[in-house]
Amino acid sequence: MVNVAVLGYGTVGSGIVEILTKNNSHVSRRAGEEIKLKYVLDLREFPGDPVEKVLVHDYDTIVNDPEIRVIAEAMGGLEPAFTFAKKALEKGISFCTSNKVLVEAKGAELLQIAKKNNANFFFEASVGGGIPVIRPMIESLTADHFDEISGIMNGTTNFILTKMDQEGAAYEDVLAEAQALGYAERNPEADVEGHDAGRKIAILASLIYERQVNFADIPMEGITEITGVDFAYAHSLEASIKLLGTARKKDHRIYAMVAPFLVPSNDPLYAVNGVYNAIKLHGDMLENVMFYGQGAGKLATASAVVSDIQDCVRRLGTHREVLWDPSPVQLGDAKEYPFRFLVRVKADGSAENAEKLSAFAGALGGAGRLTAPRGVTGEAAFVTKAMPEKELCEAVEKTGVELIRKFRLDW
Ligand code: HSE
Repeated sequence: MVNVAVLGYGTVGSGIVEILTKNNSHVSRRAGEEIKLKYVLDLREFPGDPVEKVLVHDYDTIVNDPEIRVIAEAMGGLEPAFTFAKKALEKGISFCTSNKVLVEAKGAELLQIAKKNNANFFFEASVGGGIPVIRPMIESLTADHFDEISGIMNGTTNFILTKMDQEGAAYEDVLAEAQALGYAERNPEADVEGHDAGRKIAILASLIYERQVNFADIPMEGITEITGVDFAYAHSLEASIKLLGTARKKDHRIYAMVAPFLVPSNDPLYAVNGVYNAIKLHGDMLENVMFYGQGAGKLATASAVVSDIQDCVRRLGTHREVLWDPSPVQLGDAKEYPFRFLVRVKADGSAENAEKLSAFAGALGGAGRLTAPRGVTGEAAFVTKAMPEKELCEAVEKTGVELIRKFRLDW
């Protein structure tokens, strides 16, 4: 029998407890040992909840109990999660987490401590909720060099963009709906400004390129400015707008960013809607592979944590190597990575403005002008050839056009 503990009895923590209870014999059989939930740590009381029998308020009770072999953390935030993880691993107790803040900031360090102590630090649920993506990356996708990992990594923003796309709903209205449904937080900043996706692409890029990619170095654009007019242009190009996290290798440099992209209808990411997530990779041998599923939610995320607990149980006393060098990658300047752009600029019909627009198209190296969608006036839109964002910004400055918005095209 293997005794385990869960830290945090919130949404994900209570999901882990539910799975360990409801599916106990199945989970144990698949782990090769009976798994017993001995403790749940939370500062709160839960009167009447069966968790009361195993509820403790002091971490030392757990970490100093020699019977505890695996701890799963679902508290979120850097502290005290980091201190708890470190203490456990130093004692040879394996540690699993759904906490992306912890993994992005301290993953490399915790893996080193785990290695030294013949334990494991697993974090499948920190990216893509219930989608198995980290374990396949480490265990299955080992023969290729990957030049790109991109995906829809945030369920809340994908829910909002899907509704705007398919129902013509306004951003503020769908955000309010997402909040009412419990997808979006009351303070939705981490999701809508791209920070949540930024942490996730930092973790995935660190794993695929085997070296720390810092969240703080990744440029992030959110979805708060996107309107129905943007979707009308996207539709005219047979595309949709998706918030992508992406890391790409070009000329031995890694470029990473989070931004809304136009995704064409023949791209599998186009069909990823609602709170679903998908992560695709491009390798030099395998070419394209994509992982798709529920990227958030109590039981989906908890299911990934429980699978980590099972893996820890199977590997007790041994360490699975995960290559993640803690010295940070010097990322390339994302403004120098070439993309095609959809650019919307102001147009007032005057001769002076027409001259500016034609100078602008010329400065872009002959960009194609788009027909404005029905009902859209007072602007002109262009699709550029592949060019660094820097050059596009220089063309705006040089010709004096007034930029409304620009989107990268993912084709
Ligand atoms: N807020 C996140 C999302 C939860 O919407 O995807 C999972 O990290």
